[in-house]
Amino acid sequence: MLLVLASVCAVRAQRIDISTDKTDLILNVADNGRLYQSYLGETLADKAEAANVAAQAVDNRWEVYPGSGGEDYYEPALAATHADGNLTTILKYVSHKQMPTAYGSETEITLRDELYPVEVKLYYQAYSKENVVKTWSVIINNGKKPIDIWRYASALLYFDRAAYYLTEFSSEWAREVRMATQQLQFGKKIVDSKLGSRAAMHAQPFFELGLSQPASESEGEVLMGTLGWTGNFQFTFEVDHLGNLRVIPAINPYASTWELKPGEQFKTPDFIFTLSQNGTGEGSRSIHDWARHYQLKDGEGDRMTLLNNWENTYFSFDQELLEKLMKEAQALGVDMFLLDDGWFGNKYPRKNDRAGLGDWEVTRSKLPGGIPALTKAAKDAGVKFGIWIEPEMVNPKSELFEKHPDWAYTLPNRDTYYFRNQLVLDLNRPEVQDHVFNVVDTILANNPDVAYFKWDCNSPITNIFSHYLKDKQQQLYIGHVRGLYNVLARIKEKYPDVPMMLCSGGGGRCDYEALKYFTEFWLSDNTDPVERLYIQWGFSQFFPAKAMSAHVTDWNRKASIKFRTDVASMGKLGFDLGLKNLSAADLKYVQKAIQNWNRLKPVILDGDLYRLVSPYDGNHTATSYVAPDQSQAVLFAFDINPRFDEKIQKVKLQGLDPAKRYTVREINRMPTTDKAGNVIEPSDEPDPKQWAEDGKTYSGDYLMKVGLDAFTGSSLHSRVVELNAAR
Ligand code: DGJ
Repeated sequence: MLLVLASVCAVRAQRIDISTDKTDLILNVADNGRLYQSYLGETLADKAEAANVAAQAVDNRWEVYPGSGGEDYYEPALAATHADGNLTTILKYVSHKQMPTAYGSETEITLRDELYPVEVKLYYQAYSKENVVKTWSVIINNGKKPIDIWRYASALLYFDRAAYYLTEFSSEWAREVRMATQQLQFGKKIVDSKLGSRAAMHAQPFFELGLSQPASESEGEVLMGTLGWTGNFQFTFEVDHLGNLRVIPAINPYASTWELKPGEQFKTPDFIFTLSQNGTGEGSRSIHDWARHYQLKDGEGDRMTLLNNWENTYFSFDQELLEKLMKEAQALGVDMFLLDDGWFGNKYPRKNDRAGLGDWEVTRSKLPGGIPALTKAAKDAGVKFGIWIEPEMVNPKSELFEKHPDWAYTLPNRDTYYFRNQLVLDLNRPEVQDHVFNVVDTILANNPDVAYFKWDCNSPITNIFSHYLKDKQQQLYIGHVRGLYNVLARIKEKYPDVPMMLCSGGGGRCDYEALKYFTEFWLSDNTDPVERLYIQWGFSQFFPAKAMSAHVTDWNRKASIKFRTDVASMGKLGFDLGLKNLSAADLKYVQKAIQNWNRLKPVILDGDLYRLVSPYDGNHTATSYVAPDQSQAVLFAFDINPRFDEKIQKVKLQGLDPAKRYTVREINRMPTTDKAGNVIEPSDEPDPKQWAEDGKTYSGDYLMKVGLDAFTGSSLHSRVVELNAAR
């Protein structure tokens, strides 16, 4: 203990600047040796001016990582029960290092308690150009006895503004990311989840915080934050008696006191944030850029279009039917056929969701040639082959459960509760981790032509009891998520190039830690295109188009195939329907729309997103993507349910080069059918008779100040417009 004390005393006052090109987070060591936040805001010309912690009233000092039991009366970042039962932790600055990196800088700050052997390292990666900071903490037990930690924040940020407006994204199956904003008043607002195996269902692991005013698309200061943790998370927003706000992103400590063994290090999840001075639009673009460059699996790579069979067949298919669907995939012009749930289980074939999960062998009676026959059929049809798995789960009616009932979470002394007739496997257990890894490994080792996985997770953890952890049940939730990451890291290491979709009974899993291992995620089982306009609007706040799987299905047949396809074309385009439901004109339309999407994919997937007109504001919505060099843009405009004789507004574009001249061309136009039933495809030439703007050339300045007449007064009408700058 004396040694620890000696090194803490050696500290001199220090200022630590964590800076991107647009944001400064300035920390200071005060004369008491403790670390305080002096400033978080727009970049300052002279950072020293913000460094004067001593000038702040003592009860208004913002400790960067406050421990429990100190003089601060609000939520701490760290709470620990030391080996002797003492509940107080006071951390003092020891040292810091700042290293320049290719993306900006990484800072490591070491704090230590003078009396107890607890050390905390705070990490900050500042991505200069993207204006994103990724931060996490590591809590270390340097003592000889275990200690219990029961609060372990990833970070703690403070704000001093006139008012705070929180936008949260509440969810449920098929109604993901409903955005709602409220003003925070004195006290705490907590957004959290306790689902165990996934972050989201009722709440999503991201938020927007309008500072001084509610967050808007292109104005105002807004903090946008997200936690990379595929399990129980908690965001605490606490306004204190002085009107200051603290924001605490963390693993949810609910039922999760962690015993930190001697020498053990507890790494918190990453908290990723951007502070935009120009509203959520700029904030989203910053996070999208960061995700594509540094986080999302194959973030800078291409994406495949696909035909999925789930909504078309559910569990009822055989080899013959699948071969037919592969040919349909080829006829549509997509890259891949994706076989969904229902292909496995022999003793308990997966005919419905009540049996077979866990037994990852092809149902011989259904698919006698196994996966090799399927990959061959796909090759013959000229498409790639992808397959659905849900490896973390088990149906009690399965050979796996018969062999290993203790691999699933079940209560030894209470009735078992089932969610979708299944149980969650205990990923704390190393054999379960091997089992989950082997599901992917066996398929790929035996079938190297499998080109894609859809990885599902349909149940939260039910029956909170691990037969493996015995008397350490409080480690269940955190250990489970760490077990999942062990498996995903092994898979990524062995198969770095296999694209995978993350799915969780709709959009239940979409945090940025999971997305290190997945190229895209499934937003929602709700594919009604009108609902999707809202759902995609919500998820696009944090995720780039290439991460958002968007499929055209038969939900809401009142909407034309054009409307449905145009909505899905704003994301990673796919289909989940049978060609039998498409007329000849529909099919021609879809084929052409896929060609257009493939041609424009560099702009849609890698361009800058501008959300122009919100569906939350009325009966229309518009979104555009602009190429980074501003030479091209794609505008998607939708009329949902306009009022009678409503005054239709023009759509003002954003992000164009004011000096460039753009030619406007409507694409994805619907073919017509003549009296003889022949399909007449629209020409690729502009048709001002159909749309007065078609073929016109405007300056970027005009398009951004005056706009395009892209909306109409018709219900469920959609328009896709390509804008090309003159070279
Ligand atoms: C839930 C997913 O969200 C669906 O797309 C589908 O894969 C089913 N699971 C299969 O059980």
